[in-house]
Amino acid sequence: MFLQRITRTQTSKEVLNSFKKSLLPVNNDGVQTGRSRFRTPWAQRIRSLVTITSVEKISDEGVKIRFDNHAQEHKFSNIWLRDHCRCSECYFKETTQRRSETHSIPLDLKMTDVRVDNDQVKFSFSDGHVTSFDADWLFENQYGKKLYEAFTFESEKRKFWDKGQENDMVPDISFGEVISNKEALYELLKNIAIYGHAFVSDTPSDVHKGVAEIGKAIGLLRATPYGTVWSIRGEEQLEGADYKDSSYWDISLPGHTDGTYNIDAPGLQFFNIPSHVGLGGESLLVDAIHCAHILRQKNKEAFEFLSTTSIPSLYYDGDNIFKGYGPVIKLYPGTDTIYQVRINDLDRDTLSCLEYEDVKMFYRSIHLFTEILRHESNEVWFKLRHDQTMITDNWRVLHGRKQFTGVRYLQGGYLNREDYLSKLNVLHMKYRKK
Ligand SMILES: [Fe+2]
Ligand SMILES: [Zn+2]
Repeated sequence: MFLQRITRTQTSKEVLNSFKKSLLPVNNDGVQTGRSRFRTPWAQRIRSLVTITSVEKISDEGVKIRFDNHAQEHKFSNIWLRDHCRCSECYFKETTQRRSETHSIPLDLKMTDVRVDNDQVKFSFSDGHVTSFDADWLFENQYGKKLYEAFTFESEKRKFWDKGQENDMVPDISFGEVISNKEALYELLKNIAIYGHAFVSDTPSDVHKGVAEIGKAIGLLRATPYGTVWSIRGEEQLEGADYKDSSYWDISLPGHTDGTYNIDAPGLQFFNIPSHVGLGGESLLVDAIHCAHILRQKNKEAFEFLSTTSIPSLYYDGDNIFKGYGPVIKLYPGTDTIYQVRINDLDRDTLSCLEYEDVKMFYRSIHLFTEILRHESNEVWFKLRHDQTMITDNWRVLHGRKQFTGVRYLQGGYLNREDYLSKLNVLHMKYRKK
């Protein structure tokens, strides 16, 4: 086996020999022939950890490529290889957009020649086009990956939590750092991706500086009928005050996600309480995806029901009617990976979409899930400091609050999930530890 990983213990000569061995050319039938045609300078070679040892024709429609880095073989079809050509005629590299039209590739396309040259492979096709791929790229894009791996950073690194970890909560990052230092912003977004929430300290109490500036550092805050940055129970009338919604009263709010009535529920939610003259109003966080995992273990039927049955939600304030629907628990298609929990009893719409036979199962499943979500072992209660901004991943973490007295001024905002993920991915490319 020609393992190409470069470790400190390997001498450059050993690595070089190993590369040489791996570079065996293939003939038109895809069979390895002769000796390696190693020519590329050493400095260029060490960039690639993947090389191709053989390309074998498996039918008129495809080839089997063997990569030596993991001694793995992967099948690729001719039409797919032609379709994914990255030459300037077929692809805009700068914008990652395609230039070739899928329907212009003949369905009976044949491969007429294959050449492996160093860590590149070149295919010729019966339509006259020649395309070459880096071994790295082909290995990276082998088939059978799940779509959700587009969000790999998120799903691989999530750490789930309950009340047991409350003393271990995500550390604050200061406002000044978040808005001026991209690496600090990356830490903040990484915390949200890993734990589903994060905290910013030293937030200015001015509605146009605090939440607005943090939102601006990440992306664009979402415009809503109640404002872009809204205030609740403010002493002055800021954007969005005085709307007819339960969150504007002083009652306690059990754990919920916002925007169950939106087609695309807010991705992030911001909370800052610059002042409160009164009692109560403690904040609640619940890791709802962790709770969904518990439900799956306890009662498969209930989990199945809640992850496959769409439930409607409604927002109505006289001027706006928002209707959204979807399962309470959402899984990436064809996987066990949960990516969203959407639950808010207050905003649930009339359940006329259920069949008579399903009604009992709905109530039984919601009872079971709510028992887990509201179990004291899963609820983390705390008092948000006036300078703190709490950010929650509204697709994963429930928020709530205790009843309060007096005047409690809250500023909040939403940000779309794709904007948060976009910023995270951009910063991840730049600052991840190599
Ligand atoms: Fe809420
Ligand atoms: Zn091309």
